[in-house]
Amino acid sequence: MISQNHRLDQQLIEREDHYMATAARINYYDLVIDHAHGALLTDVDGNQYIDLLASASAINVGHTHPRVVKAIQEQAAKLIHYTPAYFHHQPEQRLAERLAKSAPGTDNEVVFGNSGSDANDAIIKFARAYTNRQYIVAYTDAYHGSTYGSMSLSGVSLNMVRKMGPLLPGIVHVPYPDCYRTLPHETEHELALRYFEAFKAPFDSYLPAEETACVIIEPIQGDGGIRKAPAEYVQLVYDFCHQHGILFAVDEVNQGMGRTGKMWSIQNFPGIRPDLMSVGKSLASGLPLSAVIGRREVMESLAAPAHTFTTAANPVCCAAALATIDVLADEQLVARSANYGRYAKEQFLALQQRHPKIGQVRMYGLNGGIELVTDRQSQQPDPDFASDVIYAAFERGVVMITLKGNILRFQPPLVITKTQLDTALTVLDEAMAAAEQGLVKRPQGKIGW
Ligand SMILES: Cc1ncc(COP(=O)(O)O)c(C=O)c1O
Repeated sequence: MISQNHRLDQQLIEREDHYMATAARINYYDLVIDHAHGALLTDVDGNQYIDLLASASAINVGHTHPRVVKAIQEQAAKLIHYTPAYFHHQPEQRLAERLAKSAPGTDNEVVFGNSGSDANDAIIKFARAYTNRQYIVAYTDAYHGSTYGSMSLSGVSLNMVRKMGPLLPGIVHVPYPDCYRTLPHETEHELALRYFEAFKAPFDSYLPAEETACVIIEPIQGDGGIRKAPAEYVQLVYDFCHQHGILFAVDEVNQGMGRTGKMWSIQNFPGIRPDLMSVGKSLASGLPLSAVIGRREVMESLAAPAHTFTTAANPVCCAAALATIDVLADEQLVARSANYGRYAKEQFLALQQRHPKIGQVRMYGLNGGIELVTDRQSQQPDPDFASDVIYAAFERGVVMITLKGNILRFQPPLVITKTQLDTALTVLDEAMAAAEQGLVKRPQGKIGW
């Protein structure tokens, strides 16, 4: 076992605890990050870690990528900010064009914001304005953000809504397809039809289709456990939307920017062209920037100042985004995500042979959800085991967190090297063995979601 000294981490966190409100951080373990490069983090005590989280999929091109750093430095020396609410600057102009052209479809427009959350709020605004309808359909287990609009769309944690209601009215949740806990002998086709029936059920009883503005979906759910909806299901929902004049919106905040082995996760579903798409996180390599990319006529349905923010499309953030998109292209990181993702999947499947608590391995690009269960027969989630595994991995120099308590979240920077990947996988193997033998001594109290 690599013994790591965490004295300074712990001291700093104890002090911070006095000032920082509880609502803003999910507790995992004591890690104060000092600097990072590529897929490596270094904490304030000088310990090094392989990063399997990429700051929640916000650092797809790797930490402190030299081209992103240079773009930020040069732009900061030139113009730190002038609000696009009134005037123009070139980084925003260039990025708007680039994003509009990169999304599916041929005639797109863009609005900018500061976070994935406000981008999803924008989807609600534009969808309601364009259709002149009020209802929005969203999914259980989705995480769309922390503003009132986006938290109303979400369906993954009680603490996200508890004590804060009433939420935004007019939002109906339907079940997201679960391809792990299926009915006995159910095929993917049967599952797609079953979930499509569940999707349609509200429209038969209390949700008038002609008053529904849009469906918002993560075609591959992030915080819901890295789960991919069957292509047939997505197509059925998409066709239903078209038949009823309902917009089809996709949240790419977590799964976009090359994460799934495609630039946008919806490109894993051929033939689907979303009306609206939200983007954030890795867009500006973690600097605060989000965007909604949508069909021109939908995006023209609101007049200013319906969606302006003083600090949106900040020039430094836009310069970082332009450099990030260049790096994704020049270093072929989208293809790397697909190739290394295939390799990582094989390795996790090999781990599954040795570790009976690995219930399911899901991997779409360098983007995995490893579901840990008490036993494969019952498929009961095992959050204690998952917590032991990530804690043991942390002690051995690998940073990873869980989703929904029992799912290992595997989202390294796409620049992770093969050696780093292999080392991380060896560490996870050891961490699982230690957890199986009851050898993990982690601090008392709940960790994770
Ligand atoms: C799919 C998805 N949408 C939206 C958000 C919210 O983004 P932000 O935290 O930047 O507001 C997240 C954040 O985790 C996300 O995963």
